Amino acid sequence: MAGMDDSIPLLPGQISIGGGAGPQAAGPGRGAGELAAPSGEPEERELEAALRPRNLDDFVGQERVRKQLALVLAASRIRGRSADHVLMSGPPGLGKTTLAMIVAAEMNAPLRISSGPAIQHAGDLAAILSSLTEGEVLFLDEIHRMSRPAEEMLYMAMEDFRVDIIVGKGAGATAIPLELPQFTLVGATTRAGLLPGPLRDRFGFTGHLEFYSVAELELVLRRSAGMLDLKLSSAGFSEIAGRSRGTPRIANRLLRRVRDWALVHGLETIDAQAASAALDMYEVDARGLDRLDRSVLEALVNKFNGGPVGLSTLAIAVGEEPETVETVAEPFLVREGLLGRTPRGRIALPAAWEHLGLKMPGNAVASAMLPFDGDELDG
Ligand SMILES: Nc1ncnc2c1ncn2[C@@H]1O[C@H](COP(=O)(O)OP(=O)(O)OP(=O)(O)O)[C@@H](O)[C@H]1O
Ligand SMILES: [Mg+2]
Repeated sequence: MAGMDDSIPLLPGQISIGGGAGPQAAGPGRGAGELAAPSGEPEERELEAALRPRNLDDFVGQERVRKQLALVLAASRIRGRSADHVLMSGPPGLGKTTLAMIVAAEMNAPLRISSGPAIQHAGDLAAILSSLTEGEVLFLDEIHRMSRPAEEMLYMAMEDFRVDIIVGKGAGATAIPLELPQFTLVGATTRAGLLPGPLRDRFGFTGHLEFYSVAELELVLRRSAGMLDLKLSSAGFSEIAGRSRGTPRIANRLLRRVRDWALVHGLETIDAQAASAALDMYEVDARGLDRLDRSVLEALVNKFNGGPVGLSTLAIAVGEEPETVETVAEPFLVREGLLGRTPRGRIALPAAWEHLGLKMPGNAVASAMLPFDGDELDG
């Protein structure tokens, strides 16, 4: 199928899939070693590419986004036009890049890949846009990190399929209009809130990806295990799914770790016990929290008495970039009811102490959120 080849030739300044933002961008997930981050390791990258669903039918979960996207694509196929521009937003590893590739595959269109950090000048974008072919899908990863002038050029390109190339400088500068072929822009971002309104408004469809349920992750794992020729018991699948932090990328990575463990221990079929023993070794706890998640919670609870504490202070306490804490760890901790965001800063919720096996002090901010304390309950 056109567009599904992972080895599409790249222009200078473009990135390959799964490689994050390239060396110039110290974006979220760099150096933190968390499970959700895109991996730089060639082996992990290959595995990710191999397990990537190629069409909407293979894409597990995200029912709402999948249905809406299917409709957008079907309609444009009927009209015989390139699809509306699509924005995918959500935490790392939930399938944004995968869906971008699926858009191209479903439209039977070639795919061009670049990323916000790779486009530092309007000229970088002009070079990409002017080389697009009719109907091509342009995937811009981390679109919130594009430079301002490039962003402004993109507005016009998205709306009118036209750009003005500025030639010369100062008073003698002239704008040469350049017609572009109809193309579909697929943008991906972990931080939709950072996109300027005018850019957000130019997307015909925005898909917000949510964390996956354990049942959905089991389906992801069953599909991957089939492809990797691995045998697991039902309980084995649930054990891994339950620890995958709502994230298919993590589910697939944990599956691989468990496979290694089974190989070394000479197991034919992986059961819950084996999965759990393997995952304990890799510091993934029963709730799926990884090292970064736990250090954020521990810092909040132990160093700041449960907060409220500002994001940057919290980030310094765990030795990470604020953006990493905000985009990689927080969304999951918030969803799990472990961390809260308040106007005064981040707070640990009662479940955080419980999860760390600690007792919440009476003067912690979250104490006020409990309807009554244990004594009243007993009495
Ligand atoms: N719905 C899904 N069904 C099956 N597998 C999935 C699904 N979504 C993601 N995956 C798997 O998870 C991996 C990571 O997904 P993907 O690269 O699309 O995430 P992403 O949202 O682009 O992350 P990032 O923000 O880090 O770029 C894929 O290689 C694929 O194997
Ligand atoms: Mg991606």
